[in-house]
Amino acid sequence: MAVGDVSTFDRFARVYDLLMPAARRSKLQAGLALAERPVERVVDVGGGPGRAVRAIDADCRVVADPARGMLAQAQTHGLGAVQGDGSRLPIRNSVVDAVIVSDALHHIADQRGVLEEARRVLRPGGVLVVREFDPTTLRGRALVAAERVWGFDSTFYSPDALRADVDAVGLDGQVVEHGFGYTVAGVARTENGNPKAEESE
Ligand SMILES: C[S@@+](CC[C@H](N)C(=O)[O-])C[C@H]1O[C@@H](n2cnc3c(N)ncnc32)[C@H](O)[C@@H]1O
Repeated sequence: MAVGDVSTFDRFARVYDLLMPAARRSKLQAGLALAERPVERVVDVGGGPGRAVRAIDADCRVVADPARGMLAQAQTHGLGAVQGDGSRLPIRNSVVDAVIVSDALHHIADQRGVLEEARRVLRPGGVLVVREFDPTTLRGRALVAAERVWGFDSTFYSPDALRADVDAVGLDGQVVEHGFGYTVAGVARTENGNPKAEESE
């Protein structure tokens, strides 16, 4: 885990929640629409104050984040909160309809581990939706530089590299939107292949 990034977000959680604009529902919805089952249970990994998951309708909305300050903010918005690293989620196999990772993957050291965990917790027909920034664009290069100056330990994927890794963990990946802010989604078409997989119902 990029511990420095987590402690910064922990410290500035209230300010972050106050200053950041609401997430754009249509951007997330374009990825969630690929789900092949109703989207009722959603986990927002690296969700901070739950900016992304707050923009969508679902019966059960949970933020998973290692920063306690961020989880406290998420709870003020009526969201469920679990503390944990995105690459080791304290969530059972095959119990979630959608996993969102919005503006967070580049802050997480074990990015492939996050994708594998998403695959593990998704039910068949469930979808992973990642919103990220393309480091090959002009604004992306500026963002990479700005995060270095700020002291973040960030690593950015290009859309095609992320889609390839989403495929590699066993999800059916596609780039839903290109651009500085882009979306990659991956659908779980089968049971997650883990013999210990359990349906929770
Ligand atoms: C830029 S904030 C984004 C928060 C939220 N997703 C949003 O869109 O506003 C990045 C978040 O990633 C979280 N984070 C950092 N390292 C993490 C890790 N290893 N696992 C899960 N989340 C992590 C931080 O605590 C922070 O809440």
